[in-house]
Amino acid sequence: MKKKLLIALLCTKIIQTNSVFNNTQAIVLAAGGSTRFKTGITKLITPICGQSMVVYPIKTIAELIKTITVVIGFQKERVKKAISDAHISNITFVEQAEQKGTGHAVLCSQHTWHAENILVMNGDMPLVTSDIIMKLFEEHQKHTAAISFVVAYNIDPNGAYGRIVEDDNGMRIVEAKHFTYTITDYPCINAGIYLINRVFLENCLETIEQNEQTQEFYVTDLVEKLVNETHFDAVYVCGPEIMMYKTVQSAHSRDIFVQASLERMMKCGVGICGSCCVGEDLVCKDGTIFDGQHLSSNKEFGYFYRNKAGILENY
Ligand code: FES
Repeated sequence: MKKKLLIALLCTKIIQTNSVFNNTQAIVLAAGGSTRFKTGITKLITPICGQSMVVYPIKTIAELIKTITVVIGFQKERVKKAISDAHISNITFVEQAEQKGTGHAVLCSQHTWHAENILVMNGDMPLVTSDIIMKLFEEHQKHTAAISFVVAYNIDPNGAYGRIVEDDNGMRIVEAKHFTYTITDYPCINAGIYLINRVFLENCLETIEQNEQTQEFYVTDLVEKLVNETHFDAVYVCGPEIMMYKTVQSAHSRDIFVQASLERMMKCGVGICGSCCVGEDLVCKDGTIFDGQHLSSNKEFGYFYRNKAGILENY
């Protein structure tokens, strides 16, 4: 039986995974109303260093993936012109006539789906590099994942980001407008880049329910669905430690085997200097991979780290 794994990613390493790219198409979400921009004009055509914002992620994707579908809606002609003016080949446009959320936007492109994997990415991400996408592919492929997504550590209370929430009800991405928890308890945000197995997407997307408050459909609900409705053999997690801590807790509460990859400052690398200690464990000698069972008794994991001077500090 195939292992089904949910991988939360912090992207650091570049590895080429051409075989996955050949089996992948991309959906760029560029239909939103830019309501937070408050200019009445779609933010996607805002020039940044001489190029429209939306062109950056599309060019990045085009370095890796041949087939790209762009979902347009709000001020669609302006967005379409900005992209067309960039002369990127193999772009198909589909329209989301009503802005009913990201899940609905993805569904609008369903007639174009054909590849094994579908990369879904927001169109307002000019700083995302191909390295990040390549790392996402690498992890997705390595673990035969149904869905993989990029997260980032961010505790800025002013940022209206969807946040990764894990509690007794499972893991889910909570949109900013519905987030009522304490930000420091859930410091990881959803970066808006997903790699999804097409069959999984086809099975799940039509079952996503409309949010009662906003009447929108969110693609982020796929994550909650996957966790709650799928059996996992194991969870392997790397990335920000607070996120790993919550993931380990969540896996424990479901009796799922879990391992976490810890990071610490390593000065000697051979177990002498103590710079890499987490409680009584040395990351260089005892890790860097630790079982969740072991970590659950470690009093520093998820709460403290040591700064460059070796002084214990709170996360
Ligand atoms: S790096 Fe010195 S003990 Fe681990």
